[in-house]
Amino acid sequence: MRTIVVFSGAGLSTESGIPTFRGKDGLWENHRVEDVAEHEAWWKDKELVLRFYKERFEKIAACEPNAAHKAIAKLQEKFHVVNFTQNIDDLLERAGCENVVHIHGRINCAKCEHHRDISNLDGDNNFTCNYKTVIKEPIQFGDKCKWCEGQMRPDVVFFGEAVPLSYDLISGYVSTVKYQNGVFICVGTSIQVYPAGYLVSFFSQVKNKYIVDINPQRVADYTLLKGKASEELPKLAEQLLAEEPEVAQE
Ligand code: OAD
Repeated sequence: MRTIVVFSGAGLSTESGIPTFRGKDGLWENHRVEDVAEHEAWWKDKELVLRFYKERFEKIAACEPNAAHKAIAKLQEKFHVVNFTQNIDDLLERAGCENVVHIHGRINCAKCEHHRDISNLDGDNNFTCNYKTVIKEPIQFGDKCKWCEGQMRPDVVFFGEAVPLSYDLISGYVSTVKYQNGVFICVGTSIQVYPAGYLVSFFSQVKNKYIVDINPQRVADYTLLKGKASEELPKLAEQLLAEEPEVAQE
């Protein structure tokens, strides 16, 4: 099976009702960024940060995958599909996608506030804990780590924290897609945040590469598909599936 890598941002989920970050309906409008999604903010006012993420948790739980998420899942019929998403929602998984890497974390996962993933630790400086767990309800103030009694927090990358992104993993997929004459699709991201944004330059080496966006940036020799993800991705998926020979049944 050939491999397709899909790199996505908030524009993939906005038609499901989850606001983008930099659009007019920007997610941050009713909350100042430095008040809620920033490393220092956690140590200043944990309850406020938890209230903000409770709001995001409930918003995402009330949303459904849209036609774009479903189109990506449908590509799995004939391709090995790997998603690298900046989104913390689980709409790709709920649409049936099996391989999803959340570069900026996941809303339905919690970790200890002393977790080793968090590069610039505060509180008990050098102490680190490894406890993480999937959650079905929003985290409450007072939800303690089972291992060290620290306060549980969203397993999301706050501003000012390092992004755990494996360059080996990415370059491995670049070689695979290149070797197999596979496909790279960038959908619904302003490509303004790094290191996630590096994927677009890393995958520029592959032949078949697309940018799907209502307002696509001109990136050297990428095929630009200007339009809504929920309209453009199903069309692209249909074209790729039609051109791909039937998979031999094992
Ligand atoms: P942005 O809000 O920066 O960009 C959203 C992109 O989606 C823009 O390019 C829009 O043109 C496009 N768009 C909007 N609606 C669309 C639609 N219906 N169909 C297709 N495209 C559409 O969001 P991101 O690029 O995801 O980081 O932002 C990246 C990161 O910045 C986020 O992960 C977050 C933020 O800081 C962290 O939380 C660490």
